[in-house]
Amino acid sequence: MLQTAMTRDTAMTEFLRIYAQLDDLVREICEARLDDAPDAEAREALTRQASEERRHVAIQRAYLQDRGTPYVDRIPPETRRTLVSYFLELDWPEFVSALQITVEGTGSLVVRQVWERADEATRRALAIPLEDEERHVRFGMEQVRKALAALSPGEQEALKARIKRRVRETLELARLLPSSLRQCFEAAGLDCGAMNARILRETAARWRALGIELEAAA
Ligand SMILES: [Fe+2]
Ligand SMILES: [Fe+2]
Repeated sequence: MLQTAMTRDTAMTEFLRIYAQLDDLVREICEARLDDAPDAEAREALTRQASEERRHVAIQRAYLQDRGTPYVDRIPPETRRTLVSYFLELDWPEFVSALQITVEGTGSLVVRQVWERADEATRRALAIPLEDEERHVRFGMEQVRKALAALSPGEQEALKARIKRRVRETLELARLLPSSLRQCFEAAGLDCGAMNARILRETAARWRALGIELEAAA
């Protein structure tokens, strides 16, 4: 772990490099899962998401270039492979629960909090991605709602239990992300305890809207 405090500028560079790499990873996963979409509408939304993630990477790389701190990978190749492979094997409703609702849902809550405290140029670089990520979360929620609606009450409970397990597993994967993230948040003026509390609260409300109570957030 780094011992010296980051400056705000360094923190924004580090944050945007990690964010860009995560966007690229999400893009790769979405492209790999296109054939698993349950219908044409879901496939179209996933195709659109992949192209938006590609655009986010381009926006972030241009921002980093302008700052004189070009993009470099922050997640090692082995970790990236571990992260990607987790999302390739999941059944569709569990997949969207893990990627669109948990990764993008949690990610967009984090990005929004950084955005609220960022300088003008950083806010501009985050604005479009943030708006898109929030739409990706809604896509995931809509897919889970549809999947649940097609099931009997007993099957619904079984799927909800599987989804809760996937949410827990996905949140555990966050431990593989660079430890510098915490310093980025602190340098941006965020109190990590308060940030986590807000994320837990908003995440629980999101799942509750789908009829799912997360134990961790209770
Ligand atoms: Fe993105
Ligand atoms: Fe996204």
